[in-house]
Amino acid sequence: MSTNASSSNEAWGSRIGLILAMAGNAVGLGNFLRFPRQAAANGGGSFMVPYFIALLVIGIPLMWIEWGIGRNGGRYRKGHFPGMLAAIWKHPAAKYVGVVGMVIPLSVMIYYTYIESWTAGFALFSLTKDYWGHTTQEGMVGYLRSFQGIRAEGAPVYHGSWTPYLFYAGTLGINIWVLSRGISGGIEKLAKIGMPILFFFAVILMGVVLFTPEQVGIGTSPISDGLAFLYTPDLSKLGSAGVWLAAAGQIFFTLSVGMGSLQAYASYLSTKDDIALNGLATAATNETVEVILGGSIAIPAAVTFFGVSGAMAIANGGSYDLGFATMPVVFQQIDKTLPIGSLLGFMWFGLLFFAGITSSVSMLTPIVAFFREEFGIKRETVAWTLGAFCFVFGMMHVHWLQHGLLDEWDYWAGTFGLVLVAIIETVIFMWVFKPDQAWKSLHMGADIQIPKFFKFVMTYITPLFLFVLLGWWGTTEAIPILFNERSAGGSTPVPDASWPYVAASRSMLLLFGVAFAVLIRMAWKRNKYDDRQGFVELDTNRAEG
Ligand code: PHE
Repeated sequence: MSTNASSSNEAWGSRIGLILAMAGNAVGLGNFLRFPRQAAANGGGSFMVPYFIALLVIGIPLMWIEWGIGRNGGRYRKGHFPGMLAAIWKHPAAKYVGVVGMVIPLSVMIYYTYIESWTAGFALFSLTKDYWGHTTQEGMVGYLRSFQGIRAEGAPVYHGSWTPYLFYAGTLGINIWVLSRGISGGIEKLAKIGMPILFFFAVILMGVVLFTPEQVGIGTSPISDGLAFLYTPDLSKLGSAGVWLAAAGQIFFTLSVGMGSLQAYASYLSTKDDIALNGLATAATNETVEVILGGSIAIPAAVTFFGVSGAMAIANGGSYDLGFATMPVVFQQIDKTLPIGSLLGFMWFGLLFFAGITSSVSMLTPIVAFFREEFGIKRETVAWTLGAFCFVFGMMHVHWLQHGLLDEWDYWAGTFGLVLVAIIETVIFMWVFKPDQAWKSLHMGADIQIPKFFKFVMTYITPLFLFVLLGWWGTTEAIPILFNERSAGGSTPVPDASWPYVAASRSMLLLFGVAFAVLIRMAWKRNKYDDRQGFVELDTNRAEG
């Protein structure tokens, strides 16, 4: 790995470190919590067909586009989206268009680390058997709601009201500490430790879920029902728009595309490094973990103990109930015959924690890069300041979870916004840069030749698919949610009491956007960038000009 050709004079330490960090970025809560839930809620086998089609026409192409646009940005020492766009599109508007690629990772970081902090809490509660005794689905949901601070009036309290804040602060603190240690010293090291642990825990859990219930004669449905539910392709629902949108949304989220964070990771590569094969390997690793491991734990477990319809009902209920309520019930069931329930719980939530943290550290990477590269601020200073900022805004999610703020941000920043970023980067990379140039750029230092067919797909099919998705999503979801015909997290409108909170949380996203636009303007003035001229190339190691 060449070391002198990267933004902020940083680089990945080794190829294996790079792959683990990139896979760590992609493999996250999405693989183990969001995927099973989306698959179950959309009918299992009927979800998987559009899912694989979306992987081929948007997932893998966007993966390459993001590695390409990111590495190209790195040649000009740009690890942030506005700079990456301006490096290609020599127009004053380019940097402002890039603002979405700053607002999204920052706001997703804020709520994603909050959910990550639940996994830390529940890992501990598994060891201490704190939730032991809540052996029904309803009981466990009550326990979860108490932790989340959204109990119904008069419902029992199991945690001090400070508990979620404590875990949130701790989780955020670890994230920031890793970030403050830099690319190879922080993120890469974390991935080298976290990814093997995650993998190990996941394989054990899969083995236990697939073999124990039948061996020891517990559970009500055979485990094969759960697998058949997910893996029997069902073409009958291919006409349903909802299933397609859910599948495309899952592909975006799970591969981390449309966010700005893969691009930031790729900016620390040089033109001597391969991105064609590494990009593909990252997507393949993520999909293996998602479909094989992610698909073989929560769903089969839920089906075994609650049947197919029970599992679907759970998946259609609260967003996180499958992972945080159903799984603990399953572990306690197993514990009755085999005393390993507490350990299994620890492994499940530990696995989620490592999946989460190796993803969340990537989200602030572009923001840290922005302040370092454009304002020359020290990494540690930027990281801890951003940490404090995230904590303040995160309190809003902790404190007012019941008003649906998290769902709101998850929709605008974590779902809809991703398509916007994807469209912007696809158009700029494939159309402004031009297909031939893009293709050449992707193959600098490449170990493989990407099939020509993908050049066609990336030039025409991917953008077309994205525009259709945007239009479809816009009319069926974004506009109804915007005008509160339904809430971001459910099918009924936001109640009047919660509306001011929701409106305020949306305004915050807008405010973030305005603030970044102002900062970008300041940065461009300060560094005397000439929009039409472009940046000065710093990658002296490049293979060709
Ligand atoms: N891909 C991650 C997951 O599956 C989420 C993520 C999205 C991480 C965007 C980083 C950037 O959970």
